[in-house]
Amino acid sequence: MTMLKIEVCVGSACYLLGSQDLIEMIEGLPEDVKANIDLRGSSCLKACGKGPNVKINGELISGVTPDKLMEIIKYNIQRK
Ligand code: FES
Repeated sequence: MTMLKIEVCVGSACYLLGSQDLIEMIEGLPEDVKANIDLRGSSCLKACGKGPNVKINGELISGVTPDKLMEIIKYNIQRK
């Protein structure tokens, strides 16, 4: 099974814009969902003004909220 690779920018700009909330949301997911997620912290993704920034399977997504990230996770996990 392919893991959903999520890299959350933990650079200072994204941190101030709420990247920690994204990490906490993922960490709070049920274990069976988390088992499909490869969560990593990333250094600055060079899009600081549009943060919080996340890379999902290598694709940069900006302005990510916990709700938006949850939708992305559901969409990707249901597709498998
Ligand atoms: S700090 Fe996140 S893109 Fe720069």
